[in-house]
Amino acid sequence: MERQIGKTRLLLVQGDITRQAVDAIVNAANSSLMGGGGVDGAIHRAGGPTILAACKEIVARDGRLPAGRAVVTPGGNLPARWVVHTVGPIYRDGGLGEAATLASCYRESLAAAAEVGARSICFPSISTGAYRYPIEAAAQVAVTTTVAEIPRHDFAEVRFCLFSERDLAVYQAAIAEVA
Ligand code: APR
Repeated sequence: MERQIGKTRLLLVQGDITRQAVDAIVNAANSSLMGGGGVDGAIHRAGGPTILAACKEIVARDGRLPAGRAVVTPGGNLPARWVVHTVGPIYRDGGLGEAATLASCYRESLAAAAEVGARSICFPSISTGAYRYPIEAAAQVAVTTTVAEIPRHDFAEVRFCLFSERDLAVYQAAIAEVA
């Protein structure tokens, strides 16, 4: 599925984010930036030790990364030149600012990637795995925020990479509603 938003192509794909040939991929990290399971584990495994070394430097300098913020490291052995690490909210009941924090992840990741000169970026479905954000609600935040932010930047392509067919269908429905 594909949409044109001004000069930017918005694209949905199903697959493994570590295989995406874009300038920057986004990692659904945790505040320690020391790796984990899910997308985080896959990215560190595929990208190699350069990524963790850069994360350690960032944490030594700036401390733990709060939820909703984003930082950039090199992509190591990945096809992507950069990894944007962001920390999604842990979902509890939806009344603790989870949507605002998740929106901030997408906004800050786009801004951080634009700042290093990335012209294409690929997002996973942040917070909908270990952090248990309901996928329908998360997709709506992801798509609405991204579509609203795209005109502020100069990306040729913004991509969402969904692991499962079901998640892909949920994001398709969310895009059909807003774009
Ligand atoms: N490519 C694309 N999507 C993937 C991949 C992959 N290689 N691996 C997992 N996913 C999907 C999951 O199916 C889920 O839909 O990414 C989505 C996000 O799941 P998580 O990776 O669990 O991320 P999140 O819910 O934000 O939890 C973050 O998990 O691994 C830890 O260190 C991480 O503590 C942090 C927490």
